[in-house]
Amino acid sequence: MYVGELLKSLDRVSTGVPGLDDLIGGGFIPGRVYLIVGPPGSGKTTFGIQFLIEGAKNEEKGLFISLLEHPKIITQDMLRYNFGLLTHLKSKRILFYDMGESIFGAGRRFTWSEIFENILRIIEAEGVKRVVIDSFTSLEYSVLDPEHKRMALGRFIRKLHERGVTCLIVAEMMSSENYTEDYYLTDGVIVLHHFMRNYQMVRALQVLKMHGVAHDSNLKKLRFTEEGLRVYPEAPF
Ligand SMILES: Nc1ncnc2c1ncn2[C@@H]1O[C@H](COP(=O)(O)OP(=O)(O)OP(=O)(O)O)[C@@H](O)[C@H]1O
Ligand SMILES: [Mg+2]
Repeated sequence: MYVGELLKSLDRVSTGVPGLDDLIGGGFIPGRVYLIVGPPGSGKTTFGIQFLIEGAKNEEKGLFISLLEHPKIITQDMLRYNFGLLTHLKSKRILFYDMGESIFGAGRRFTWSEIFENILRIIEAEGVKRVVIDSFTSLEYSVLDPEHKRMALGRFIRKLHERGVTCLIVAEMMSSENYTEDYYLTDGVIVLHHFMRNYQMVRALQVLKMHGVAHDSNLKKLRFTEEGLRVYPEAPF
């Protein structure tokens, strides 16, 4: 392996979430795979779209693989923000792929490997640089071979690394006694939290792990704004 290749780990791509890059040494390391996890309504899908918008602004083609919601519904919801999503959809810098339709409408079940191979085929065919898979958790209950997840996911992540694709895997929150393989196999984990305090909903973001990056794992204040999610350097309360 060349030194130039190794030093690539110093490069960064912006996450697209204002305030977050500063917490993780300037952004995501390109070509790595990250897990975005959180409870319902915590901002996981919004995060994913912001990540693709940021790429599209820099001429990087992005792919949103939807496993649950219809892309039309996601687009409708995201058009509320001042992202300029429509422009990027028209210019095809952001593509949606309704994988839920092909998986759940196929009349048969698929293995983890089949699903990952399918995703890799689309990535290759479209030449995308940023990928969001939302939500991974729905696959856990629909694959033919749940016991093969660790091996198939490990292989999938290696292939993404080889292709230099920066990927966000969105997953639903599990209790800490039930950390799934994604927590261990990905290069970084960002947790979106919400909880009640004095009858108020408090939102927060936590960088749970980030390989190769010195970072602060404390909870940081998170807000929804007209421009989507924004992270603040202070504690949420
Ligand atoms: N301006 C806002 N202020 C406060 N909360 C907001 C605002 N805009 C959106 N939300 C909240 O964010 C949620 C949508 O965020 P998003 O769809 O990104 O969450 P998610 O984590 O993907 O949710 P799910 O688990 O249902 O897929 C809304 O349902 C709403 O609760
Ligand atoms: Mg969502």
